[in-house]
Amino acid sequence: MKTEQRLGVNIDHVATLRNARGGAYPDPVRAALLAEKAGADGITAHLREDRRHIRDADIDALMDALTTPLNFEMAATAEMQAIALRHKPHAVCIVPERREERTTEGGLEVAKDQNKMADFIAPLADAGCRVSLFVAPDEAQLEASKRVGAAVVELHTGAYCDFHADGDFDARDAELERLTRGAAFAHDLGLEVHAGHGLTFDNVAPIAALPAVKELNIGHFLIGESVFMGMEAAIKEMRQLMKDARS
Ligand code: PXP
Repeated sequence: MKTEQRLGVNIDHVATLRNARGGAYPDPVRAALLAEKAGADGITAHLREDRRHIRDADIDALMDALTTPLNFEMAATAEMQAIALRHKPHAVCIVPERREERTTEGGLEVAKDQNKMADFIAPLADAGCRVSLFVAPDEAQLEASKRVGAAVVELHTGAYCDFHADGDFDARDAELERLTRGAAFAHDLGLEVHAGHGLTFDNVAPIAALPAVKELNIGHFLIGESVFMGMEAAIKEMRQLMKDARS
């Protein structure tokens, strides 16, 4: 039996729905509290530079209300670093961000600019945040993540999920092999390994089964599925699938 795996629920898209009408509901904080009740081990929220979903006031309210750790996702900018240092969330996950993208499309280029990333991470780590870098399962990026002082890497599962959805199973299996090797490699470097992006009931099992992966962060599918089966049921079902995959 592998160790228990944590589930972080990303509530960004409750805010997307709220912002579509410009009002106060649905409230992402209410969703976060319900997610906790349903068994989420933590809540993830991405404060994007353009504030397209989560806003600054949501982060303030989440910090006040949550009883589980907040994983604060952000780009490596001075503005976001200052916000993180003000709140000191349990974890900070640094992601690449481009204004024109619909969602976080690729992993961070940690290897390219290591001194800059090390300088960016140091004050966050000194403030007690567990710093995570969202990267592709690539050895150079993982080694660089360790060198710049990250405690955690989150492996980008988006390509694996896209190949699965497209029915390109050879490409999916090759990507799963990369993720499997990357997770073990990162673990051997002494990094804690997380994974996420694009995970659904249908594709989660092989990722949940990876022994080195200690946490999955899942958002868009769970929020969407909540429309049909309710958030509590959706989270419970995801947890069960993760547990089954590891037993
Ligand atoms: N992990 C990271 C670092 C992300 O940027 C995202 C998307 O915001 C997720 C996990 C969750 O992805 P999804 O919403 O597709 O489940």
